Amino acid sequence: MTTPLIERHRRSRHRRALGYWCVLIAMYASLALGSTLRPPAGIHYSALFVHLASVIVGLGAAVLLEFYGLQWARGRATLDDLRRIERSVTGLAWLAIAGLLASGALLEPDLADPLTDIKMLAVLIVAMNGVAMTRLTGELARLPGSVAFARLPQRFRFWCVWSASVSQAGWWTAVVIGMLNTSSA
Ligand code: HEM
Repeated sequence: MTTPLIERHRRSRHRRALGYWCVLIAMYASLALGSTLRPPAGIHYSALFVHLASVIVGLGAAVLLEFYGLQWARGRATLDDLRRIERSVTGLAWLAIAGLLASGALLEPDLADPLTDIKMLAVLIVAMNGVAMTRLTGELARLPGSVAFARLPQRFRFWCVWSASVSQAGWWTAVVIGMLNTSSA
């Protein structure tokens, strides 16, 4: 039996609300642990390795997804291609965010440093935007796989561009500040 549309919308709204709460709690736990834990140097270096591996995977997933989005917008890929990539990289992106939050908690973040605070805001925005994007992917899933980006209503196109821009801006801000924080340490 197929689930009525209203019921499906209600369920996905509920899942998103749960997602936002999970992100907030995970972020809070990471920062709370990060400001109390003082791990030995060996653990710090291992955590830094996990942190960097997570950056590679997470940023790679975000860039790949947005690259395919751009290719779709330029008519060089289909919505089907984009959806296939989205299904492959979404799990990896969330795994990377979990890895960054877990390893970051062992890296002794200096929350008194304004740059670190901006980075944490960027991380929060990346994760919240990731949850919000599930609504967009849900809408895209209902469109025919061959639909051209240019044929979508303007509001929808703006939504795609906005979500992709927020994701890229958040990831790159966190990466650049992370590197600045390390080199100035
Ligand atoms: C989107 C999420 C994140 C990204 C892209 C990111 C990126 C980076 C990068 C590129 C570095 C530089 C590593 C190096 O050059 O050696 C770094 C270092 C660092 N990150 Fe993150 N990070 C993220 C999340 C977090 C979180 C959530 C925390 C804390 C709870 C954190 C705490 C730190 C600390 C303390 C360092 C400095 C480590 C050291 O030099 O000992 N990061 N991060």
